[in-house]
Amino acid sequence: MSETVVAANWKMNKTVSESDYLITEILKNIPPVSSVTCVVFPPFLSIPSASRLIRNTSVKLGAQNMHSAQNGAFTGEVSAAMLQDFCSYVLLGHSERRLLFGETHEFVNEKLSVSIACGLRPIVCVGEQSLDRQNGLTENVIRNQIKSSFRNITDIGNIIVAYEPVWAIGTGTAASPDDAENINKFIRDELGSIFGTEQVSKTPILYGGSVTEDNIADFLGKPNVNGALIGGASLNSEGFTEILRIASDLT
Ligand code: 13P
Repeated sequence: MSETVVAANWKMNKTVSESDYLITEILKNIPPVSSVTCVVFPPFLSIPSASRLIRNTSVKLGAQNMHSAQNGAFTGEVSAAMLQDFCSYVLLGHSERRLLFGETHEFVNEKLSVSIACGLRPIVCVGEQSLDRQNGLTENVIRNQIKSSFRNITDIGNIIVAYEPVWAIGTGTAASPDDAENINKFIRDELGSIFGTEQVSKTPILYGGSVTEDNIADFLGKPNVNGALIGGASLNSEGFTEILRIASDLT
């Protein structure tokens, strides 16, 4: 069985004090014993403080992005080396990075190599836009994202992949659990053609896009949906810890 991963992507929300408060509330209400891996992705500025708060707890910490260079003249950027002291996870290729900040497949691929080399566990995001879906191009788009993001990566290791259809992000319209299962199975097959079926059989493949406490159980009921990457519903502790509780009960 794959590990179950529930991850909170706070995006550009929460000041440092708000983030400290949210982490503290999550830690108070998180199921005390759980086999679910819980990862929180606060904004960069909140990461040092969050890392102190989660020390000696089961909650893991990640960054929402990183640059592939070790250092240098990249104004406004943060390197993997800078994150290493605080984080163990990193989100790569989120659609908001790709669409709003022009991140190319090549850049995501470079970051993926560097994150692995630096010992950060990546969550690589893929997903089609609404027009792709209407034109029946979902699988082509995702195949292309996978092939280019994973170019020259020789071992799937502990990489996590998240299927996040762009049309489902922040819209309140989630993919159906059956659609998520079909695409996640497709992603596993594509990864299998690169790394071998056996190697990817335990790779966690998450679903993201309007996941809430009301639909998480339906997604986790699918064999190829091994967790969720959650935006809006992770911004309050009640909703997020309820999702964690449901996920823990199911695993
Ligand atoms: P929402 O849960 O707000 O739809 O966001 C999903 C997402 O983009 C997580 O990375």
